[in-house]
Amino acid sequence: MDRQHSGNKGVYAALSEYRDSDYYPYHMPGHKRSGQAGEMAGYYGIDITEIDGFDNLHHAEGILLEAQQRANRLYGAEETFYLVGGSTCGVLASVMSVAGKGEELLIARNCHKSVYHAAIMQELQLHYYYPSLLWEYGIYDGVSADGIDRMLEQKPNCKAVVITSPTYEGIVSDIRAIAEAVHRKDKILIVDEAHGAHLGLCKGMPSNAIAGGADLVVHSLHKTLPAMTQTALLHVQGERVNRKRLRRYLTMLQTSSPSYVMMASMDSCIRYMEEHGAEAFARMQRQYDIFCKKTKACRYLKIGKMTEMSQNKNQNRQQTYLAEWDIGKLVIFMRTTSLNGQQLYDILREEYHLQMEMAAGNYVVAIMTVMDTEEGWQRLADALLQIDDRIEKETARQIAGEGSKSDQYSMEKPRAVMTPAQAFYSGMEDVRLEESVGRTAADFINLYPPGIPLLVPGEVMNEDILEQVEESIRNGLQVQGVTPEGRITVVC
Ligand SMILES: Cc1ncc(COP(=O)(O)O)c(C=O)c1O
Repeated sequence: MDRQHSGNKGVYAALSEYRDSDYYPYHMPGHKRSGQAGEMAGYYGIDITEIDGFDNLHHAEGILLEAQQRANRLYGAEETFYLVGGSTCGVLASVMSVAGKGEELLIARNCHKSVYHAAIMQELQLHYYYPSLLWEYGIYDGVSADGIDRMLEQKPNCKAVVITSPTYEGIVSDIRAIAEAVHRKDKILIVDEAHGAHLGLCKGMPSNAIAGGADLVVHSLHKTLPAMTQTALLHVQGERVNRKRLRRYLTMLQTSSPSYVMMASMDSCIRYMEEHGAEAFARMQRQYDIFCKKTKACRYLKIGKMTEMSQNKNQNRQQTYLAEWDIGKLVIFMRTTSLNGQQLYDILREEYHLQMEMAAGNYVVAIMTVMDTEEGWQRLADALLQIDDRIEKETARQIAGEGSKSDQYSMEKPRAVMTPAQAFYSGMEDVRLEESVGRTAADFINLYPPGIPLLVPGEVMNEDILEQVEESIRNGLQVQGVTPEGRITVVC
């Protein structure tokens, strides 16, 4: 066996060769790739650690360096790092490397909780850009470059800007315009593109944040591409980010024993996209078109689409900021029926055995990827048509205009009286939700998924947020930070 494997054959091929060789493992992991290692034994064959012939992710110079370079070539950034702790790790490392202790950061309010967690660890002062609402749908719009520009005028000490694009619902922002606005002010742009690892890889797909000029871009391979859970990438480009510090944070935040099974999965995913991406995406686009054509017959259930958005925008002269709507997110809305998102989600699961990604007040999200089969697309279309038919017969009741409170973004925004870190390190007590107005949150209250906070530690509970929390619970949505007895943690 070579002293150092060449990455050209791929990480999985190198692992398989080692598994099939006669090398005896006097090294970790403790399962020793034994067939007798319990119920999971069959999975251990290629699970090794940094042994001769392989590489060290923290100082990659062999097979893992080549694998990361392969990912880098596919995406076209200047440098790409493998992450075995998901986008969570990439977001933490990105934020922590650009904003030091106590510094200021501008973030879109709908950022994932990992951004907030980085802010706690780094004791940051957060300023929020609140994306507007796409009224038709009751979901967050994209981020406006002008809005970011204005915020940076008001908060010139922010070290960087963090936004999420695409959102959990597939709304893609115009990253090029945002990057220009951020760079004009000489700040750093971090794009949490966890849900967009597939973007920009094939013709016809929205371009990605790397092409848009963001300084740091985080991709969960596992969310939208064929790769194992936890696998993700961090891309960096330009001169603004201190890469030495970024690498040091990655070393601190990633395990010292990264899983070769995961890394082989990342490499296999990249190779798959290199070799088959174009044809796989073209197939997906065809399936999407057929799906949309079929479900157009639905009267009450509507799939969110870019084309309709553009029409509405023209008709209503509404200012919107979404640049694209990712076809990998089927967002099924039911704004004019008595059915809510959770009920549709439950019917799809219980009656049709179709497991959706998430339910919200008035919609359900299905994630579709290049790996979805014709059957998968068809079963969902057929189920929606049948359910839509039943809504008409059994429960059709127009409640348009009675929109739920959580759809109304006239809500009073929570006021922060301390930083998230100050609240996190304060004395705490639990109080009943009904008694929480005026109290300062010591923990997050998140809608899960996607894990976007309604209330951040250090913010004061107000009537509007309370109503939104209570309504979400009534609708059967998962609200993290509220105990089953209806208590939340506040500063005392
Ligand atoms: C927008 C966004 N960013 C980051 C993450 C974290 O990703 P991961 O699960 O890969 O750590 C998520 C997870 O859902 C997410 O929705």
